[in-house]
Amino acid sequence: MEPFKYHVFICNQQKPDGTPCCAARGAEKVIDTLRREIAAAGLADTVQITACGSIGLCERGPNMVVYPEGTWYSDLTPADIPEIVRQHFKDGRPVVRLVNADIKALRAEIDANRAKYMAALKMKDESGTPPDDLTMTIRAFMESRVILSAIELDIFTAVGTGAKSSEVASKLKTDLRAAETFLNAVTSLGLLEKQGNIFRNTPVSMRYLSADGKNDSRMAMMHMVGLWTRWSTMTDCVRKGTSVSYREVTEREAEFTQAFIAAMHSNAAMRAPLVVKMVGTENVHRLLDLGGGSGAYSIAFAQANPKLKAEIFDLPDVLTIAGGHIAEAGLADRVTVRPGDMRRDDFGRGYDLVLLSAICHMYSPEENMALLKKAFDAVAEGGRLVVQDFILDPDKTSPRQAALFALNMLVGTPAGGTYNETEYAGWMRSVGFADIRRVNLPGPADLMIGVRR
Ligand SMILES: C[S@@+](CC[C@H](N)C(=O)[O-])C[C@H]1O[C@@H](n2cnc3c(N)ncnc32)[C@H](O)[C@@H]1O
Ligand code: FES
Repeated sequence: MEPFKYHVFICNQQKPDGTPCCAARGAEKVIDTLRREIAAAGLADTVQITACGSIGLCERGPNMVVYPEGTWYSDLTPADIPEIVRQHFKDGRPVVRLVNADIKALRAEIDANRAKYMAALKMKDESGTPPDDLTMTIRAFMESRVILSAIELDIFTAVGTGAKSSEVASKLKTDLRAAETFLNAVTSLGLLEKQGNIFRNTPVSMRYLSADGKNDSRMAMMHMVGLWTRWSTMTDCVRKGTSVSYREVTEREAEFTQAFIAAMHSNAAMRAPLVVKMVGTENVHRLLDLGGGSGAYSIAFAQANPKLKAEIFDLPDVLTIAGGHIAEAGLADRVTVRPGDMRRDDFGRGYDLVLLSAICHMYSPEENMALLKKAFDAVAEGGRLVVQDFILDPDKTSPRQAALFALNMLVGTPAGGTYNETEYAGWMRSVGFADIRRVNLPGPADLMIGVRR
């Protein structure tokens, strides 16, 4: 018994440049249209859509197979989709003009394509050329760099509701030939559209990357622009074993801090309700949010429990930003700020909950032990410490994001890193915490919780 009346497999396989594939023939737009038309027709509970890898008709993509009956559609365009949704999924009649009706011919085409593919693989292997996925990963920086420069130049705001390359060049005071080349490349990445000589934002670039966007994320993304520079020092950092470009947090430019905290905030605001739910706020009257950044976690805890008072401990420049978020949430009476340096200052006493979110990765094991000891002293009897961070698997090679983040700390801090559960539990136990447990959360970071008995 199927949970859905129809199950649609639609190919969005990306192959190396020049090789025919559904992605290169516009599969994303077809899938997007299909999802929207299905939802608009009220068929989301009837039709399950699964984007999939190659189904063997690569020169005639985008291709789609509809089960249970096994109807094979090829050469789809967004314009075909409303008809398929209406006629096939609503009325049960496949759109004959788009269907591969000759099953024998279909099978022969798939077999021929498979043979061609296998022969090409063999040839490639014999030639000694590195595998495509390796080459694509090595070249991935090009795409990343284009988007980072587009954000830095503020291309998407300049394009606005539509502009010629000459208009963008004159607005941004860039070279005309370079602007045209650059806009073409951004278009090839799917973040602009081009009709004639007019460039336009896509829904995604308009929403997230333009000053006029509903969820303008440019400030948070500027943090990645900064990280690019740091990551370029990776080779030297590996040789030296530490960051070669580290500057004390107190010495960073205001723009760096603003972008950094905006990036932290966009993640924290999304995760905070989940963390509050998993930790709970019962019997929590005093929360200390060490390195609380934008204040997103303190605000979420205070919103969940009207009796809870939260204190954000951070550097003075950062607290100015947190103050704005606190005022916006109307919580200035219960969420307060305390300027200080985590490495030097005492944290006080008697807190029911001490939160260390995305802090421990900045420090070495020894520094973390010292930090956790001060945190223990700040927790009241029966109170808890909650650490949120990337937690590596025992052999430290996964999850990938945590393993890569360890390098982010190598290039950005004197001795930070990412740690595994055994390390966190060991530090917490050694400073006095009991009932230590890990709480797994969706996304890249988890919680370690300990109680002061
Ligand atoms: C990675 S952010 C985490 C922010 C927040 N806890 C979150 O999860 O979104 C690290 C925070 O620690 C603060 N910080 C770094 N060094 C500090 C220090 N020595 N004393 C106090 N705060 C510090 C930074 O300003 C920043 O807000
Ligand atoms: S790439 Fe889509 S069918 Fe082969």
